[in-house]
Amino acid sequence: MVILNINGRDTQVDADPATPILWALRDNLNMTGTKFGCGAALCGACTVHLGGAPIRSCVTPISAAVGQKITTIEAMENDKVGKAVQDAWVKHDVPQCGYCQSGQVMSAAALLKTNRKPTDADIDGAMAGNICRCGTYQRIRAAIKDAAKTLA
Ligand code: FES
Ligand code: FES
Repeated sequence: MVILNINGRDTQVDADPATPILWALRDNLNMTGTKFGCGAALCGACTVHLGGAPIRSCVTPISAAVGQKITTIEAMENDKVGKAVQDAWVKHDVPQCGYCQSGQVMSAAALLKTNRKPTDADIDGAMAGNICRCGTYQRIRAAIKDAAKTLA
């Protein structure tokens, strides 16, 4: 049994400490907003925040998260920055198939939590690990800039 702090609540997870956070979220806790893409830290679909930083939950064991705060897409609507990002995503009609978008939103929110005026280079750097097979990159960049304006 491992106790994880997820979205502000201590949560018991009945899983081996080596279990990736992604599987604990999806299989043990039925929190399916975080997506499985590659399982190898290559696509970003599984991005969550650990201690405020974006991480790939498919390759991060739950043992690494003990005593830290995990934040997932499910918490974004009640987070000032996360809500601004989600509103901008809707305004700019960012998703196409949608599969990568939870991870995209989490990386964008992590960026805007530490940088309220990101340049194109900042956005490219922060979002480089999040792959979108539908090619929504231009709309993602526009939405991040819009969210930054909302938060200014
Ligand atoms: S599923 Fe984790 S990076 Fe692709
Ligand atoms: S919206 Fe389809 S993979 Fe990104």
